[in-house]
Amino acid sequence: MELPYAESWKIKMVEPIVKSTREQRELWLKDANYNVFQLRADQVYIDCLTDSGTGAMSDRQWAALMTGDESYAGARSFYELKDTIARITGFEYVIPTHQGRAAENVLFSALIKPGDIIPGNSHFDTTKGHIESRHALAVDCTVDEAKDTQLEAPFKGNVDIKKLENVLEHNSDKIPFIIVTITNNTAGGQPVSLENLKAVRALADKYGKRVIFDSARFAENAYFIKVREKGYEDWTIKDICLEIFKNADGMTMSAKKDGLVNMGGFIATRHEDWYESAKKYCIPFEGYLTYGGMNGRDMAALAVGLDENTEYDMLHTRIHQVEYLAKKLDEYGVPYQRPAGGHAIFVDASLILTKVPKEEFPAQTLTVELYKEAGIRGCEIGYILADRDPVTRENRFDGLDFVRLAIPRRTYTDNHMNVIAAALKNVYDRRNEIKRGLKIVWEAELMRHFTVKLEPLA
Ligand code: F0G
Repeated sequence: MELPYAESWKIKMVEPIVKSTREQRELWLKDANYNVFQLRADQVYIDCLTDSGTGAMSDRQWAALMTGDESYAGARSFYELKDTIARITGFEYVIPTHQGRAAENVLFSALIKPGDIIPGNSHFDTTKGHIESRHALAVDCTVDEAKDTQLEAPFKGNVDIKKLENVLEHNSDKIPFIIVTITNNTAGGQPVSLENLKAVRALADKYGKRVIFDSARFAENAYFIKVREKGYEDWTIKDICLEIFKNADGMTMSAKKDGLVNMGGFIATRHEDWYESAKKYCIPFEGYLTYGGMNGRDMAALAVGLDENTEYDMLHTRIHQVEYLAKKLDEYGVPYQRPAGGHAIFVDASLILTKVPKEEFPAQTLTVELYKEAGIRGCEIGYILADRDPVTRENRFDGLDFVRLAIPRRTYTDNHMNVIAAALKNVYDRRNEIKRGLKIVWEAELMRHFTVKLEPLA
């Protein structure tokens, strides 16, 4: 008999989690203004809000913490981190920052001016926020395949090369760089193929532009290249990573995802001029150049995390769990962005709460229903997260409306996946009874989903 699959690690430390009653959850939700970001974490049973900073570190990472060098300047831990990044990405210049958006803030301060245009594939919300707050425009050139959630295609995170060329042709003088997000979080944790990254590179070269990879989940992207893209089956993940980054001039990194740490980030680049211009912003915004926003111990743990997470077994365990949840949802008929993404399942609320008008935010409504059902916290990646159009101030209803169930790394077991799937099935089975959604009673101008206040309409 063939042996079944099992995790590539065992558990050394555990943390209790607690259940609650529906009555309790209904009260807590009201207090939280129907925004799950406003809940206390101990009001949550299984937390799928994000895979960012919520993973479990390994024994080697905890051991590395003890070796952290906390020197203000020139810390040994910085050089360990810099050397690891150079080994995995080929980038020589490294600036640590406290998280991914801080890397964006430092680098974009140096590169973006008002009126600029930054094309890419579904810019993440903080990325878009850092572009729009500089009075520049983020132009989404994701492939149309990503919009059809039921279509099975291996690389739905790809950049549409024709759309990108069109932007380059008409606005070349306004484009400081192209940004490609690997994996494409907003489109459902969908990967970008090496073929596509190479095509972006070729186009960038044609127009004399530089390319940044928003690399929060680059290792998961490398895994998908290995298992889905012809020609890379026998490559190691580390070799695929080097091949990926050959196509970029630099990267911004939220280390809280594929760096396997709870906090941290960095900028890395092959260009001294980018490094020199970003340096000026790192010091006042983040800190001195050899720690940026990080402790020595955190840089030491990140160096180990990057090394561990660019190994096949680690990634196979992770993606296997996400696919396990997807298979359960298939059994129950719950629609999600197909195929399952790297870090999360993106449940397609528009195919479930068909009676709730889009003006009443179906995905946010489903997020609230799932929490009420079983204390499971997902995250709306939909019309609320999309913010308003910066010019017309209208809600943007042209994208997808998902509930993202992000799976923290090395944190939950497949039994927890069973609970998530069953809870979703229960909501799915009563989907036609849910006819009204939510209305916004207060919102911030940018990145409103963190603080928005809502009220139920029924
Ligand atoms: N880029 C991508 C693709 C991201 O997914 C995130 C964060 C960032 C940049 C910003 O990094 O949080 O370290 O400042 N994504 C988290 C999420 C918050 O839940 O998807 P950060």
